[in-house]
Amino acid sequence: MTRYRYYTATTLDGYLADEHDSLDWLFVQEQDDGSGETGAPGTYEQFIGTIGAAVMGATTYEWVARHLREKGEAWPYAMPCFVFTHRELEPLDDGVRFVAGPPAEHRAAIEEAAGDLDVWMVGGGALAADFAEAGMLDDVLLSIAPVTLGAGRPLFPRRYELRLTELGRNGAFVVATYDVVGPPTRW
Ligand SMILES: NC(=O)c1ccc[n+]([C@@H]2O[C@H](COP(=O)([O-])OP(=O)(O)OC[C@H]3O[C@@H](n4cnc5c(N)ncnc54)[C@H](OP(=O)(O)O)[C@@H]3O)[C@@H](O)[C@H]2O)c1
Repeated sequence: MTRYRYYTATTLDGYLADEHDSLDWLFVQEQDDGSGETGAPGTYEQFIGTIGAAVMGATTYEWVARHLREKGEAWPYAMPCFVFTHRELEPLDDGVRFVAGPPAEHRAAIEEAAGDLDVWMVGGGALAADFAEAGMLDDVLLSIAPVTLGAGRPLFPRRYELRLTELGRNGAFVVATYDVVGPPTRW
């Protein structure tokens, strides 16, 4: 069965980015890429090998596009990427597919694209929550940075219960993996 996995960095107070979509707070953090002997958890290198397709919202896609343009770099993802948007955006790669509407309408296409591998929910938070409500979010893998922003783009702007399954440390980050349980029933 395809697993949908929300893998992201977040601030301690639950933001993916600040109000201006800046990730400056993230890139200054100390992080182990896992290539040494430490076996640091939460690395992109470990995670990406399990992924057959990615899903992201338009703001995240536009952030990636801007970042690549500034650095003069090519699209970095080898797997098909479904971008949810109501607009006509410029495709940065043949693997980019623009879609709109409820996640469930795209489930078959996403899972076919992923093949035997899992789906990376890249973000943002409202899209991740829409996927959860459609029964299309299995776990949440967080790298939690030791910073607070007070405001910004939320990690997950709904009430939900998760279950902690793994906990570790990578450099400055707490690395925590959770199963998605569902909307709260106990509180
Ligand atoms: N910390 C990290 O590692 C990390 C990870 C991921 C993202 N980020 C950052 O966090 C921010 C996330 O931005 P965001 O919260 O605005 O979320 P987002 O999910 O990236 O973008 C939201 C936009 O996606 C489109 N959209 C969402 N659901 C849709 C649907 N069902 N059908 C059609 N279009 C849909 C809408 O745009 P339109 O209607 O305008 O098309 C919506 O305004 C970005 O700055 C991103 O770079 C950080």
